[in-house]
Formats: sequence, structure tokens, C-alpha cells
Amino acid sequence: MTAVATVQHHPAMDDYLRLNRANWDERAPAHAASRGYEVQRFIDDPTFLSRVVRFDLARLGDIAGLSVVHLQCHIGTDTISLARLGANMTGLDLSPASLTEARALADRTDTSVRFVESDVYSALKVLEPQSFDLVYTGVGALCWLPSIARWAHVVSSLLKPGGRLFIRDGHPMLFSLDESDSDRLVVEYPYFEREEPLVFTEPGTYVETDAKFSATTTHEWSHGIGEMVTALIDAGMQLTALSEHDSVPWEALPGQMTRDDATGEWRLTDRPWRLAASFTLQARKR
Ligand SMILES: C[S@@+](CC[C@H](N)C(=O)[O-])C[C@H]1O[C@@H](n2cnc3c(N)ncnc32)[C@H](O)[C@@H]1O
Repeated sequence: MTAVATVQHHPAMDDYLRLNRANWDERAPAHAASRGYEVQRFIDDPTFLSRVVRFDLARLGDIAGLSVVHLQCHIGTDTISLARLGANMTGLDLSPASLTEARALADRTDTSVRFVESDVYSALKVLEPQSFDLVYTGVGALCWLPSIARWAHVVSSLLKPGGRLFIRDGHPMLFSLDESDSDRLVVEYPYFEREEPLVFTEPGTYVETDAKFSATTTHEWSHGIGEMVTALIDAGMQLTALSEHDSVPWEALPGQMTRDDATGEWRLTDRPWRLAASFTLQARKR
């Protein structure tokens, strides 16, 4: 979820894919051109890895030779980082403009990645079931999906028996807070999954850009940590690791966070141990 949004509760959810796709299509070229996504560093340095992938390197372990699908791969910076670690990569995303940027970056960095356009929930129509050793998902993904149970079913179905899920995302505790309050931590949004979307209208994006956007309305959902774990267990997965972190890779609560220059992560300036800001979860298909 993004900073400084207005929110209204809205019962209709049938056109969320159209709205969210239009939003991401507009953001993709601005993200690729931004300093924040560091695209030029990928081109200049063939060993460069995204901050999100670097953060979890030790937890990720050796992925060389694995068949990996990156769900919601956006402009491909994390996908290409995983390819640089030796994985055979497929990236999937809803947004054609994101995939255009991802393919361009793969070309410019001479990286072999298969990119496919699909809604996560339709992934099994475009990808072979039970064909991946690892499903990877990076920060800013689950809030775009209405049902965590449907997501867990897709993840499990894509994995070979014994295959692994690796996800880092923003923590639902963080997403429940009012990002427009720059002084206090105020619980404003749902922690638990609800059927109706949160409808946000937000003029900007989470990186610095001069781009002007018109597709500014998005539909988003929250999912509690317990709901994620339960959904994965119900889908035939076994939880193998769960770490909660006090930091996120973007300024999620403007005015209340300080950037750690060494890692690029943001955490509360005052007593950061009060807030679970992100998590890394791993699970294995039984
Ligand atoms: C914040 S980005 C992905 C995060 C990635 N770590 C990054 O920053 O590059 C979210 C991505 O999810 C994609 N997305 C949103 N809803 C989706 C859906 N239902 N199916 C597939 N992709 C979706 C968007 O198009 C966007 O590229």
C-alpha cells in the first residue's frame, strides 16, 4: 500500500484487475527511469543485485540451477537478480508495460528470463503445474490479491513436490497503519482479510519521479500473518521459516521513519522495535 492515500470503502470488486493493471502500466516506465530502481546499475555492473534480493541473500541460500518463478515480477529487477544467482527464471506479471521494461532490462543486461503476462490467479493457464523448484515473491505483492487462499493454492500448484515458496512482503501490521499521520502510529485499515477492497486514490508512487499519473485509483486487500500461514497449510504446504523485520525498503510512514544508508531499508526513528514492518516467509510443498 502506498503513502498519502485517501481511502473509501467500496463494495464492488469486479473491475479491480482493470484498475490495478492501468495503475501499474502507468507506473512502470516511471519506475524504470527512477533513481530508486537503480536500473543503470544493473547495466553497468553484471554482478549488481537489487536491494530486496540482497536483503534476503542468506535466507535464500544457493538457488543456482533451480527452476524459479517470480510472481508479480514488475520491471524485472528482482527477477534479473535471481537469474544472476544462477536460477533459471520465469517472471509473471499482470502489467504489460511492466513486462516491456523487464524484457528491455533483460536484453540490456544480456540475461535470459522468460516473462509471461498473467493475473496470478490465472498462472496455471500459462505455466506448467508442478514445474518449479521455487516460487519467489518480492515486496509489494500480496496487497493486490483479494484472497490469500486462492494465492496459496496457485503457489502450491506451481511447485514440484518438495518445492519451496520464498516471500518477503510488507507486514500486515504496517499496512493497518494510517500513513498520512506523521506523528503517531494510528491503526486505520484492516489487519485481517476482508472481502471488500480498500479503494485508494493516490497521485504519486513510492519512488521520486516527475511523471504525472491519471490511473490513480487502486483496489487493495490486507491479509493477516495467521491467514497466510493457514492458507499455505490448507494448500498442502509446510511452514519452514518466518522472520519478522522492523524495516521495509520504502518510506512507508513518511515523517516517522529513518533510512539506513547501508541497506536502503527504512525503520521507525523512535523505538523501531514497536513495529513489524515486513516479513520473510518460507514454506515447502509436502
Ligand atoms: C510493487 S510491484 C512488485 C514488487 C517488486 N518487488 C518490485 O518492486 O519490483 C507489484 C507488481 O504486482 C503486479 N500485480 C498486481 N496485481 C497483480 C495480479 N493480480 N497478478 C499479477 N501481477 C499483479 C503489478 O503489475 C506490479 O508489477
